[in-house]
Amino acid sequence: MRAAARVVVFLLSFLEFAIAQDHVTPFLDQSFFFDWDVPGQPLPTPITAQCDTINITWSRSTATGPNPTAPYYLQVYTSVYLSPLIIEVGDALSYGWAVPFAPGTQYQICMFDKFGNTGGCQATYTVIPPTSTPTCGNVTFPPQLGVAAVVDNGPMSQYGWVDQCTDIQLTPTNGTAPFTLTVAPALHPPYNITVNSIEAINWTVSLNWASPFFISLVDGTGASWANGPLHAGGGGTIECLAGNVTTSATKKVSMPIAIGSGVGGLAVGFFVGVLFAYVFLRWHLKRKVQASRFVEMPPSAENMFERRAGDGARYRSVPTTSTAGVTSNSSLINRLPSSPGYQVEAFTMPDEHGRAVDAPEAAYSPPARITSMYSDGALASVPRPANTGHVYVVHHDGSAPPVTIYTQEGTDVVELPPRYPPYASTPQSEEAAARSASASSRSDARNASEPLALHQVRQPGQLSKRPRSSGQS
Ligand SMILES: *[C@@H]1O[C@H](CO)[C@@H](O)[C@H](O)[C@H]1NC(C)=O
Ligand SMILES: *[C@@H]1O[C@H](CO)[C@@H](O)[C@H](O)[C@H]1NC(C)=O
Ligand SMILES: *[C@@H]1O[C@H](CO)[C@@H](O)[C@H](O)[C@H]1NC(C)=O
Ligand SMILES: *[C@@H]1O[C@H](CO)[C@@H](O)[C@H](O)[C@H]1NC(C)=O
Ligand SMILES: *[C@@H]1O[C@H](CO)[C@@H](O)[C@H](O)[C@H]1NC(C)=O
Ligand SMILES: *[C@@H]1O[C@H](CO)[C@@H](O)[C@H](O)[C@H]1NC(C)=O
Repeated sequence: MRAAARVVVFLLSFLEFAIAQDHVTPFLDQSFFFDWDVPGQPLPTPITAQCDTINITWSRSTATGPNPTAPYYLQVYTSVYLSPLIIEVGDALSYGWAVPFAPGTQYQICMFDKFGNTGGCQATYTVIPPTSTPTCGNVTFPPQLGVAAVVDNGPMSQYGWVDQCTDIQLTPTNGTAPFTLTVAPALHPPYNITVNSIEAINWTVSLNWASPFFISLVDGTGASWANGPLHAGGGGTIECLAGNVTTSATKKVSMPIAIGSGVGGLAVGFFVGVLFAYVFLRWHLKRKVQASRFVEMPPSAENMFERRAGDGARYRSVPTTSTAGVTSNSSLINRLPSSPGYQVEAFTMPDEHGRAVDAPEAAYSPPARITSMYSDGALASVPRPANTGHVYVVHHDGSAPPVTIYTQEGTDVVELPPRYPPYASTPQSEEAAARSASASSRSDARNASEPLALHQVRQPGQLSKRPRSSGQS
């Protein structure tokens, strides 16, 4: 039990650990703003012809983040390459860049300064076919970083919808630390998570439903990996969007928690199973021990029940195994009408397979008949059993009534009242004696071998029956 408690405490602490790992990464503070809107255009149109030059400008404006420092970098995510394109744009405040991607490519530009302060990310633009022959040069990508990306329901797809408040886990398969995970939602500042060893990096999707975003991982040597555009899926919980998730952590189904609760569920299930098995086995063993105190029998019927003149009936427990020479097919329960302290049952002998024999209806014969000793005429009609078998008397704890008597079919049961010295002849004892007299006239109970001392003063015919009204039965 103490070990079990320790297991539970361990599981709880493990779950707590898994929950504590989960937190919402804040947006980077924005240090400047940039765009390439065409002057005079009332609304930016998110399309670019291939090899069109976009005139990117940036300025501090109303940004409140750390002061930006040159040189500046463009980080261009695309829908067709598995790496972001990183372009150094110098220390000016504008840059003209010819978009080299093939028509149909979606791209999204984020900006960083020398120290990684961000100018935010722009909307996702789409490349359309050029009006003239494209002349812009090929692009050079940084080396590819190997990354295993999984979400809560399996490997992540490049353009997948990842449910809100579930985790994306990126595990570098090569490269050198430190690794920086960047999440770049359109028209938002990006998130950065940096780890200093080659381990799984987790990010909880804490974006609005259907928000597009790119995700990238860059190692210390500049090798990089990117996926996108991804979207935040809806339908699940959105509690992580509230910022701190300390209060909602238990309800969240994010990946570390799912893993933790999976392992925890296994362990708890195993523990509960072992506990139930232990309790059941104990109960079963107890029952077996108790049952064997009363039921276990030697197979021989002769050993079960021996009568010896003088020292009374020596009886043993009720048999459960098959005994030879006993045939009975009735299991009806009779009770003596006027004696609640006795319970007489004709017993059913099990067959050789240990099952109780079910008597077919045609083979049914009346059970052991318990005749009321008050009825006079019925006595003669009761058939005397030819086969005198065994009678089993089961006493209960503390000698408390009722006493259960198991008889064979056809056996008569005679109820004898107690005798009290000095054998006062009360009406009750007289009546009882009358009962005894009438019954024993046709019962084995009057055999000379009957060990009861009381029996000697109860020979049949010694007492006259009381006259009885016809209303009694
Ligand atoms: C960017 O500026 C150059 C001249 O500085 C101009 O020729 C070009 O059309 C501009 N591009 C856009 C998309 O406005
Ligand atoms: C964020 O990540 C980008 C690369 O994805 C990096 O250039 C930039 O310096 C990082 N910024 C911070 C503050 O870590
Ligand atoms: C760009 O690459 C393609 C093939 O990869 C090549 O045919 C083409 O000449 C290259 N263009 C330039 C300007 O280098
Ligand atoms: C890292 O793994 C990726 C994908 O498996 C592979 O393309 C790349 O060449 C590997 N880089 C190094 C340095 O081994
Ligand atoms: C989250 O918790 C931290 C520390 O407890 C606190 O400083 C911060 O203000 C909280 N953020 C929100 C959005 O509640
Ligand atoms: C990400 O989650 C995995 C598994 O839950 C954990 O082993 C790893 O330490 C986590 N990574 C970080 C950076 O917390």
